[in-house]
Amino acid sequence: MATRTTPRRLRAAVNLADVRELARRRLPRPVFDMVDGGADDELTLARNEAAFRELLLSPASMADVATVDPAVEVLGRRVSMPVLLAPTGGGRVAHRRAEPAVAAAARAHGTVYVQSTVTGYPLEEVARAGGGQLWYQLYLPESRERLRPMVERVAAAGYRALVLTVDTPVFGGRERDRRNGFSLPVRPHPRMLLQGASRPVWAVDFLRGNLPTRRDGRLSAWATQRQILAAPRPVTWADLAVVRDLWDGPLVVKGVLRPQEVPGLLDGGVDGLVVSNHGGRQLDGVPASIEALPAVVAAVAGRAEVYLDGGVRRGTDVLKALALGARAVLIGRPYLYGLAAGGQAGVERVLELLRAEFVRALALTGCATPADVDAGLLHPAR
Ligand SMILES: Cc1cc2nc3c(=O)[nH]c(=O)nc-3n(C[C@H](O)[C@H](O)[C@H](O)COP(=O)(O)O)c2cc1C
Repeated sequence: MATRTTPRRLRAAVNLADVRELARRRLPRPVFDMVDGGADDELTLARNEAAFRELLLSPASMADVATVDPAVEVLGRRVSMPVLLAPTGGGRVAHRRAEPAVAAAARAHGTVYVQSTVTGYPLEEVARAGGGQLWYQLYLPESRERLRPMVERVAAAGYRALVLTVDTPVFGGRERDRRNGFSLPVRPHPRMLLQGASRPVWAVDFLRGNLPTRRDGRLSAWATQRQILAAPRPVTWADLAVVRDLWDGPLVVKGVLRPQEVPGLLDGGVDGLVVSNHGGRQLDGVPASIEALPAVVAAVAGRAEVYLDGGVRRGTDVLKALALGARAVLIGRPYLYGLAAGGQAGVERVLELLRAEFVRALALTGCATPADVDAGLLHPAR
């Protein structure tokens, strides 16, 4: 909850657009663009948000919504609301504490954070900050031999579920980054310092967090990141089988848009699917996630949990995704804006705002809990 220790600028933010604006003012342009941008013409990026706006809701009266509880279960565990934090790599360039700060915020709000393979911190350190509610997002290492020790390390650190991202055989065309000459991992260099001159709060934070002065996990983390960024690897059906074999816990596949792929995924033993276009950062011109959701939900037919990410900016967006069959949504950019605007407190502010909006949306559509949500609250009712 926003407390007196929450910076005033964050308390003054009344919605996620305000938090984004705080991030825009705090970050150098290339860093903001890295977070904010999408692939090519950013058609899918824009569509993710626009498609939510086009869906209409039907308000309900006469329901007893004096008490609303937004909690749900995901993979057998209770979370305080159906909003999870998506994996995002490179957050450390936005804020020095990056992944541990996000993990701690998720813990404080009783929700899940999916830690990315592309990280500025050792996965054990993030796990400690996050308590028991972390999932781990896997990009395949270059060699199969490295996969087993990697998966064992993730399990030993206490991550509950593995999320295999399948929509990144190569990276999408991030034109803002190319125009800005931006690439990860970022190392301090004179041009960066010049860019940072107009953003002194960011510059001090960046220098404190990134000067390679100590031989600790941070540097090895950069090395991991460099390797992954240099060589994204396609995930094949054979890879899925190998991962399923190595990982005993729940397995989620992220980046599904085609219902035709669902039977193979279910046969491959997945417990959950994330309907996602990677926030419009991969293939441009694909449908918004919310447009792709109903067909995937129909194909899954209750045999796995279905989540959605991409374009969730309002509590009503969460409600719409649930109405179309998602069990929960994930957010990416919104919490990165919060992170940039104020570290852990910024991420918490984003979660707090979304929770308040979602609770209000539930009450106004006559739902006391997410279990009451169905397609009937969309207008026209489906
Ligand atoms: C800066 C940034 C980095 C990302 N890095 C990863 C990643 O390492 N692994 C992954 O599976 N998805 C990654 N994603 C995609 C997110 O997990 C998620 O699908 C997307 O952000 C959801 O859309 P939204 O930003 O509109 O909420 C990244 C997204 C952003 C914005």
